[in-house]
Amino acid sequence: MATNPFDQQQPIPGVKKIIAVASGKGGVGKSTVAANLALALREHGTVGLLDADIYGPSLPRMMGALNQKPVVSEGNKITPVERYGIKMMSIGFLVNEESAIVWRGPMLFKAMDQFFRDVQWGNLDYLVIDLPPGTGDVQLSLVQKVPVSSAVVVTTPQNISLIDAKKAIDMFERTGVKISGVVENMSYMLNPANGEKMQLFPKGELNSYLDQKKIAKLVEIPFNPSVSLGSEAGIPIVESNSSGIEAQCFRDLAKKLI
Ligand SMILES: Nc1ncnc2c1ncn2[C@@H]1O[C@H](COP(=O)(O)OP(=O)(O)OP(=O)(O)O)[C@@H](O)[C@H]1O
Ligand SMILES: [Mg+2]
Repeated sequence: MATNPFDQQQPIPGVKKIIAVASGKGGVGKSTVAANLALALREHGTVGLLDADIYGPSLPRMMGALNQKPVVSEGNKITPVERYGIKMMSIGFLVNEESAIVWRGPMLFKAMDQFFRDVQWGNLDYLVIDLPPGTGDVQLSLVQKVPVSSAVVVTTPQNISLIDAKKAIDMFERTGVKISGVVENMSYMLNPANGEKMQLFPKGELNSYLDQKKIAKLVEIPFNPSVSLGSEAGIPIVESNSSGIEAQCFRDLAKKLI
C-alpha cells in the first residue's frame, strides 16, 4: 500500500505555532509581510523567521543580516542568526547572493528537512515561514513535514494577482492547512499632498471572492516607498518607523494571528 506522505509530519521541538506566508504570484510582498509580521509578533512572544525561498532568498538583505553566518556545530546542528531579537535561517546565509542554486527535488526536500530538524530553533512561540511564490515542491514539502498552524496568503488588489492567490488558497485547502486569511498588500497609497487614498492597482474581485469563500481579509497594507526603502536598507518598517500606519497594519495582523 502506498504510504501517506503526511505521515512524515512531525512538530519542530520547542516551536509552538508555525505561520506560513504564501502567495500564488511573485513580487506581491510575501517577504516584506513575513519580516514585518515577525517583528510585530515580538510583542507577543519569542519569534523565529525561516526564509524558505530557496530560489531567491530575500530575508538576509531585508533584515540587515547579509554578512551574518549561522554557526554549524557538532553533529551538523545549526545555530540560527539573531537579528532584531528574531532567530533567523536562510539559504542566503550559506551562498553568495549572485549564485543560483539549481535544486533537484530530493535536494530540496533534504534542505527543508535541515531547516526543521537541524536548526536549533530553541523555544519559539511563533515561527514565521516566508515561502517562494507558487504552489510547488517547497510548499508541498512544508505542509508534509511540519504541522502548519496557519497560512497567510498575500495578494495585491488586482485580478491578475487574485487568480494566483486562489491557487495558493486551493493548495492549503487540499492539504488541510488552516487559512487564517488574506493580506491585501499595496492596497492603496496615501497621496502625500492631500492624504487621499489613491489606487495604484485596480480593485478586482478579491472582496467578493473572500466573502463567498468565507475567508477573512486580515489587513489592507498601503503602498509606501518607505516600506521598500526599509527593505533595501535592511531595517523593516516596523523597526524603522514603529508609529507609522504601515507598522500599525503589521501589528494588527500579528494580533489577528495570535
Ligand atoms: N506595502 C509596500 N509598500 C511599498 N513597497 C512594498 C510594499 N510591499 C512590498 N514592497 C516592495 O515590493 C518589492 C517586492 O516585495 P517582496 O520581495 O516582499 O515580494 P515577494 O512576494 O516576497 O517576492 P518574491 O515572490 O520574489 O519572493 C520589494 O521591493 C518590497 O520592498
Ligand atoms: Mg519573497
